[in-house]
Amino acid sequence: MSLLFETFSIGELTLQNRFVRSPTTSYWSDEEGILRDPILEYYKKLAKGGIGLIIKGHSYISEKGKAHNCQSGLSSEKHIPRMKELTDIVHSYDSKIIAQLNHAGGVGVNDRATASKYVTEKWEARELSLDEIEEIVEKFSSAAENAITAGFDGIQIHGAHGYLNSQFMSDIVNQRQDKYGGSIENRSRLLMDIYDSIRKKIGSNVIIGVKLNCDDFAEEKGLTINDSIQIAKILKKRKLDFLEISGGGPEQVLQIRKTRGRALEGSGYEEATWGGHAKKIRDAVPGISLALVDGIRTRKTMDNLLSQNIVDLISMSKPFINEPNFVKLLEKGQEKASCIDCRKCISRDNFAKTMLRCFHKYP
Ligand SMILES: Cc1cc2nc3c(=O)[nH]c(=O)nc-3n(C[C@H](O)[C@H](O)[C@H](O)COP(=O)(O)O)c2cc1C
Repeated sequence: MSLLFETFSIGELTLQNRFVRSPTTSYWSDEEGILRDPILEYYKKLAKGGIGLIIKGHSYISEKGKAHNCQSGLSSEKHIPRMKELTDIVHSYDSKIIAQLNHAGGVGVNDRATASKYVTEKWEARELSLDEIEEIVEKFSSAAENAITAGFDGIQIHGAHGYLNSQFMSDIVNQRQDKYGGSIENRSRLLMDIYDSIRKKIGSNVIIGVKLNCDDFAEEKGLTINDSIQIAKILKKRKLDFLEISGGGPEQVLQIRKTRGRALEGSGYEEATWGGHAKKIRDAVPGISLALVDGIRTRKTMDNLLSQNIVDLISMSKPFINEPNFVKLLEKGQEKASCIDCRKCISRDNFAKTMLRCFHKYP
């Protein structure tokens, strides 16, 4: 029997099934970071489509931490009313929704600052002072408070994809000599400080998750699977509610990304980009709820990931852009997502220039 349509509880939050919409920015908020109508309409379709847990696209915790134009904000009380409309819509369809909070660090649009002064061909960033780090931690927790006031069922901290937390955890970017640099315990301290301050602010009943790289997929150095296992262990001790496993850091190498984290042929879930790494995390850190994202497209892979107890939740992004009702379609017997991974939804031509949509389906 497929576990896909079985309920699952994360802390006190019970999900109607095992599907997660991985955070996906609609890149269409107004210049103040306030949601515009098409975003609400899109989330209505997602919620109607029966997804167990929707993670809203990343919201900035401060103007300084903004990642791109037209990103949504949760940095101020002004963001709350429209976010409340959003959560009300989602809840009216019995779906759950949590907010992903992010600071872009060295790749932001307003203030490029990160763990250490860092210069590459693509970006240049200055080093954050200890006072600034403290301020960032505080901004994360007040943004979390805004999210909960707006009716979100919990928080996800963005710890992946080469943004601030991911930059701190990378020993390529992070050359600090203080308590935030050096060992993996030190490099993940910013994430832990953020987690602790949010937990203190919103209490123990509200769920907190982290989207974490299992590997940066850098040539040498960068976060590795051994590091991510260590971080998962530290987070488990702190009673983190769930981990969403992702990958790709500030200095990732695409060819390595295609191979290093995959499961062995014949596992039944090799389609999942980081299925092999997910199994390592599951084996090394049992007892923490896991979601896995990237590349998952077929019901067969989804079923195998759950039945082999690799993860508890199936997380997807692009398939839900093309088919917001993908869960319902699977329920009716569709075997596979229609998304062809053309990646036009994330291309420079479209990003933050118009509302997110499947540009293959609706050019
Ligand atoms: C248009 C677009 C926007 C995205 N926005 C976010 C985001 O806000 N936060 C995040 O953690 N990941 C974001 N991602 C990455 C996805 O959540 C996901 O990790 C990635 O697309 C791989 O999953 P998939 O193969 O199911 O698409 C975005 C991806 C796309 C295509």
